[in-house]
Amino acid sequence: MLVLGIESSCDDTGIALVDSSLGVVVDRLRSQVDLHRQFGGVVPELASRDHVRYMRPLVQAVLDDAKLSVSSIEGVAYTRGPGLAGGLLVGAVYAKTLACSLNIPCLGVNHLEAHIHASMLEDDAPSYPFVALLVSGGHSQLVLVESLGKYTLLGETLDDAVGEAFDKVAKMLGLSYPGGPEVAKLATEGHRGRVSFSKPMQGRDDLMMSFSGLKTAVSRCLNNSQDSSRQFRADVAMAFEQVVVESLVDRCEKALLQTGCKQLVLVGGVAANTQLRLALQSSMARLGAQCFYPRLAYCTDNGAMIAYLGLLRMRRGERDQNHDAYPDIMPRWPLATLNQ
Ligand code: KG4
Ligand code: ZN
Repeated sequence: MLVLGIESSCDDTGIALVDSSLGVVVDRLRSQVDLHRQFGGVVPELASRDHVRYMRPLVQAVLDDAKLSVSSIEGVAYTRGPGLAGGLLVGAVYAKTLACSLNIPCLGVNHLEAHIHASMLEDDAPSYPFVALLVSGGHSQLVLVESLGKYTLLGETLDDAVGEAFDKVAKMLGLSYPGGPEVAKLATEGHRGRVSFSKPMQGRDDLMMSFSGLKTAVSRCLNNSQDSSRQFRADVAMAFEQVVVESLVDRCEKALLQTGCKQLVLVGGVAANTQLRLALQSSMARLGAQCFYPRLAYCTDNGAMIAYLGLLRMRRGERDQNHDAYPDIMPRWPLATLNQ
């Protein structure tokens, strides 16, 4: 079965074709980063207009790359939520209209569930059960994944998402949007130990996370210092990144011990962070566990993960009830509500 995947929940238009036997055939992305940079964050109205503008040409480009005609598509999957309502509506309307005109199945899927299953697009894929650390601009969650549609939320952030904290700290450091990669880059110039921040939620035994206090500590540190040199800012960036990584590694270790799982899957935009990957890899090796993370293009938002999850669910016979119904998007859609 050849499925077209459509991702439009935030600031990326992701379109991909995934085949049940060939895997990812083509995966294309239109990033809106340049559009939103001047505003220091995603502007929802501009995002949805950009999705409208680029969705059809991107679908055509994907078909051209694959040397296939639109009639080869056997199913359409789109992000139904969670995400920004405007972008979700664009994807849902496009997907439903296309599927209706081709008389093929259509299915709206959960963006978080798709991130978790992106790890299965790789040859070296995890098998159920595993623990997923989902860290992006909007989410920071630890989830026990027992099968497709069986999720237990083990812990989540009480305030800011990790990516959001990276983006806000980047702003304080005078770096551009999106801040995560910029902070990580500046941190490589930092000297270890010159600045330090205390680990959030220290002494707590549960798997909850918190990053807003740390963000305030960074702000205070910058405001209280006379030093505005690049070196000082790099030292701050390094200390911030280090404490975030330590905090996430600590939670992942506890999650594995608590569940008895031997596999950890790292997904979401922050999974692109090199220090986090390295630290988790050595921590998992110490615990005799395996750490999986998909390639960078599948960590951040992409159409392939939507097509793949759509394929898994459509193969089980799941479909949107009515192609031509009003697009029933879910801007808020917690993973736990998917449990069967
Ligand atoms: O999953 P994603 O592409 O979009 C959603 O939020 O759904 O994640 C984007 C987030 C942004 O906050 C960005 O700053 C962060 O991931 N990010 C990083 C890195 N690359 C992207 N954070 C830390 N280090 C990175 N290398
Ligand atoms: Zn995402």
